[in-house]
Amino acid sequence: MKRSTAEILYRFENLRIPSRSDIIELLKMEETVPLFSAADRMRRRYVGDQVHLRGIIEFSNHCVKNCLYCGLRRGNKALERYRMTPDEIVEAAREGVRAGIRTIVLQSGEDAFFSAAILADIVTRLKELDVAVTLSVGDRPKRDYRILREAGADRYLLKHETAHREMFRRLRPGTTLEGRKKRLLWLKGLGFQVGSGNMIGLPGQTVGILADDILLMRELDVEMAGIGPFIPNDNTPLAGCRGGDVTMTLKVLAVTRLVLPAVHLPATTALATIHPEGRQMALRCGANVVMPDITPVRYKKLYEIYPNKVCITEDGPGQCIPCISGMIRQSGRSVATDPGHGRRSWSDGSQQRG
Ligand code: 5AD
Ligand code: SF4
Repeated sequence: MKRSTAEILYRFENLRIPSRSDIIELLKMEETVPLFSAADRMRRRYVGDQVHLRGIIEFSNHCVKNCLYCGLRRGNKALERYRMTPDEIVEAAREGVRAGIRTIVLQSGEDAFFSAAILADIVTRLKELDVAVTLSVGDRPKRDYRILREAGADRYLLKHETAHREMFRRLRPGTTLEGRKKRLLWLKGLGFQVGSGNMIGLPGQTVGILADDILLMRELDVEMAGIGPFIPNDNTPLAGCRGGDVTMTLKVLAVTRLVLPAVHLPATTALATIHPEGRQMALRCGANVVMPDITPVRYKKLYEIYPNKVCITEDGPGQCIPCISGMIRQSGRSVATDPGHGRRSWSDGSQQRG
């Protein structure tokens, strides 16, 4: 290991304020073992060996937006669209809870059919199952977020996708990075545990932009960071692009663990899609969360953000959760039995300066 790399890792492990140039140096490093080991130690020290399962229900693939990278974009006429009914959503959650899930994530495209009132009613019913509820339903007016929070939603995922202003504007027509940040701040102000995140391997991305992604998540003091590779979808304008690679995705995960030590970091389905051992590798590079897809199988194959998504043939949580739990135990970790709320220990003032 180069002396400078050892020094950078020492600084990070001792919670010094990270500099952009140090982050860039780590992301460029060819020898990844020291970085991955440091992230694994940090993960153990701050969030322990338990892995949290978040059961995700993809309840609608309708979307009004037209993001260039995403298969749910409204311009994709090749996709068969669906909406689950509130009863179907609650039943899917109940099955997940029976299989051991303690957090339900409701995810959809930006679908106005699901008004705040309809979603609030679903949230209220889910809270009766004694679970934490995470929402991932995109850009909404602040009053909607308030209604959902008052209905009992605990967390909100709104990935910033890329911290590069121009790239954001190009990839997400009609929206701005400032708009995303404003919403993330609203959500925090309303008392949600907030998650953001980004994609690795977007066209035109540089390691400097990836460093900015990590620093933005630190600035926003997020409690969850969803980081996965971009996977090109043939039915989008980004068909034929290269997409993200496994090593860079793992490096960004590892550096994020060093920069936000107590963050919840999922081993994403996207990473498992581009590498059969993707989840296991992520769990060794700082990740402490897995998000099994508990959407009924007839719908989940239509939630085609990117192609060849893994785990879309399991019949339901009864099969999927034992399979994922087995993988977690084989990785030498245990499955958490509590809802795994966020902690704020990297921003509690205990960190050293300098
Ligand atoms: N590859 C990987 N992830 C994608 N997402 C959208 N399109 C793609 C793609 N082609 C991710 C975005 C979004 C989440 C729902 O899916 O990060 O936030
Ligand atoms: Fe819609 Fe989200 Fe896909 Fe953009 S990334 S098209 S907002 S589902």
